[in-house]
Amino acid sequence: MVSLKGRNFLTLKDFTAEEIGYLLDLAAYFKKLKKEHVLHDRLKGRNVALIFEKTSTRTRCSFEVAAHDLGMASTYLDPKSSQIGKKESIEDTAKVLGRMFDGIEYRGYGQEIVETLSKYSGVPVWNGLTNEYHPTQILADMLTLREYFGSLKGRTLAYMGDARYNMGNSLMIGCAKLGLNFRAVAPARYFPEPELVDQCKKWAEESGADILLTEDVSEGTKGANAIYTDVWVSMGEPDEVWEERIEDLTPYRVTMDVMKNAADDAIFMHCLPSFHDLDTEIGREINKKYGLTCMEVTDEVFRAYDKPLFDEAENRMHTIKAVMAATLADDWDI
Ligand code: CP
Ligand code: NVA
Repeated sequence: MVSLKGRNFLTLKDFTAEEIGYLLDLAAYFKKLKKEHVLHDRLKGRNVALIFEKTSTRTRCSFEVAAHDLGMASTYLDPKSSQIGKKESIEDTAKVLGRMFDGIEYRGYGQEIVETLSKYSGVPVWNGLTNEYHPTQILADMLTLREYFGSLKGRTLAYMGDARYNMGNSLMIGCAKLGLNFRAVAPARYFPEPELVDQCKKWAEESGADILLTEDVSEGTKGANAIYTDVWVSMGEPDEVWEERIEDLTPYRVTMDVMKNAADDAIFMHCLPSFHDLDTEIGREINKKYGLTCMEVTDEVFRAYDKPLFDEAENRMHTIKAVMAATLADDWDI
């Protein structure tokens, strides 16, 4: 039997395929309970702290709704209204929050911050996105793929865009562990770090998957079951990088031609938020400056493939609930 009680959830590197499978099963179980309006508030009386040094819609709402459904109270700390980092070190913050809360979520910058929080707090710490990894997103992605294709092993996921940041890294790890073929489709300087690629290749060998890094869009997306992309400029990156990203990554935009080159029943995936039209402030600024009407994906693809995409967003909540439940208690009756 899998037990994750007391564990941190900092990166999928730390978890076996069996443990990740358990989290997906637990998430599917909670999803079913939620749809049937069955209460599952076994963690009544517990408290969780949610630290967000970067903005969020999905991750914050998922943690808050999931905590509430499990019977827990949550406290949201935004970047401006706490002492974190500016007047108090991460170590001291961890020691304080660990005395008051049963678990801590952190979204922000370097991976070393979640590591420090976990080292000093004495309670489970959950990574809600760092520059390097976004592990709760991958659980939602895998649950969505499992719902659409029935199984994960042997499927192929092609990631187009900046593959060396949190989403590219984490998808490669998740695919390698769970036996999906992973393709990074990008200019070579956007490929993930060679050290991480080597590590993932070892996991992929064990799980029966392969990893391909290619600059060739046609080769990389051919027959893929899922075409995945993310914003070209991530939170916390300086505005100055827009110009080169637009130049480098426009050939790697997800278009209808890309989708046609994928498998017949391929789905389009995106962690969201996305710049697919001019209905955002940043989208309009970029349009004014560079003339683009969409960025990483065309509006046509985004709207034509929206069902799995918003299932993926919903699944953030069910999977985050599974992470908190599994690391705070054992013996879920799945
Ligand atoms: N995908 C994701 O993490 O979304 P938010 O930034 O809205 O949390
Ligand atoms: N790469 C993006 C992911 C957002 C969910 C970012 O870090 O901003």
